[in-house]
Amino acid sequence: MADSLLITGASQLLTLRGRGPRRGDSLSNLGLVNDGALLVRGDLIAAVGTRAEVERLPEARGAEKLDLGGRVALPGFVDSHTHLVHAASRAEEYELKIAGATYEEIARKGGGILNSVKKLRAATSEALKKRALAALKLFAAYGTTTVEAKSGYGLDVASELKILQLHKELAAEQPLDIVSTFLGAHVVPAEYRGKSGGAERYIKLIEEKLLPHVGEGRLAEFCDVFCDRRAFTVEQSKRVLQAGRQWGLAPRMHAEQLSRTGAARLAILMRAASCDHLEQVNQSDIQALGKSETVATLLPGCDFHLGLKHYAPARSLIEAGAIVALATDYNPGTSPTLSMPMILSLACAQLRMTPAEAIAAATINAAYALRREKSIGSLEVGKQADIAVFEVADYREIPYYFGVNHCWMTLKRGRVIHATEQAPI
Ligand code: NIG
Ligand code: FE
Repeated sequence: MADSLLITGASQLLTLRGRGPRRGDSLSNLGLVNDGALLVRGDLIAAVGTRAEVERLPEARGAEKLDLGGRVALPGFVDSHTHLVHAASRAEEYELKIAGATYEEIARKGGGILNSVKKLRAATSEALKKRALAALKLFAAYGTTTVEAKSGYGLDVASELKILQLHKELAAEQPLDIVSTFLGAHVVPAEYRGKSGGAERYIKLIEEKLLPHVGEGRLAEFCDVFCDRRAFTVEQSKRVLQAGRQWGLAPRMHAEQLSRTGAARLAILMRAASCDHLEQVNQSDIQALGKSETVATLLPGCDFHLGLKHYAPARSLIEAGAIVALATDYNPGTSPTLSMPMILSLACAQLRMTPAEAIAAATINAAYALRREKSIGSLEVGKQADIAVFEVADYREIPYYFGVNHCWMTLKRGRVIHATEQAPI
């Protein structure tokens, strides 16, 4: 069959197969197959197993062949938290951070998120698209095959719609899946700030103008809120997420990053798809997350970039049974990276997760965070053939070699979207 592809030669094939999100001990279960093989039919996986098992299938004989030469293959990474569309870096704030200014001090001086809002409002759609397309190519080059993307640097009707419309165009014009999230409640924009009832009036704008556009235009699947000091309170967040839900948007949250506000509790109460960051959670939050279906997404790139020593309590969350995921949080203010392998390295060194736990958190559990677990996140029959191949012989070497890109090939829906001639070291 011309449409079939037989992939052999995976010294380790990490299938991540199995039912349900990975919690506790099961987070280290990679479903590893030695000398693994896959049969791909069109976009989807038709068979998976050892080389002997898959080669024996009649369809394998006529299929196109791809030999991975003893490398490690795993599901393409699912990056479940990014601020993909932004106009420029904030390198001008970097030295202030290094000199000791906190994220909030920089924001108070007119930097921070509002700095990126100013830049985005001034940027053309074409310029934003060019930057996002370049970033998406790099995501693919690091083994990522699905990217969640948030608005939130527009904060007025025209600019938020400009970002969300771009999510749609980007999804249509390049191979990675883009999962669109509306983050109108990122911060209160400058024109409403410091005015009496300003935050209230901005929330009204979200409810009465922004969300109807987003809902009617089907421009997003999720509604996110940055619930923190100097952003939105728990009550305000609840209001925005409830309004989003009325337009069919499932809730997710930026929670407990800079201060503990009770945001994680709200996420659980609202059955949010995920609550992300969680550096400041307390023991009772950890226990509550352990019992909930809301995914606890950790973003160690933020603490690394901001030079903070206090990372999220990954081990306690795993022990409590929480569904732990990992993401880059690619954004110009707190985490300017799009490398999932680098996030895995940080998860191992700083969050004390094992390489196996980190890989499960960046694939199958991240797919749960995006409610895409039926189609991506593992290499199983019927799922999309989204595959990352690394130039290593042992999966532990993926996080072990930090800051180096060993991704050798990336396939999206069975098609090669990135390949390199990199020699083994
Ligand atoms: O996930 N915390 C809020 N939002 C982003 C940072 C955005 C920015 O600084 O531009 C985050 O860390
Ligand atoms: Fe974020």
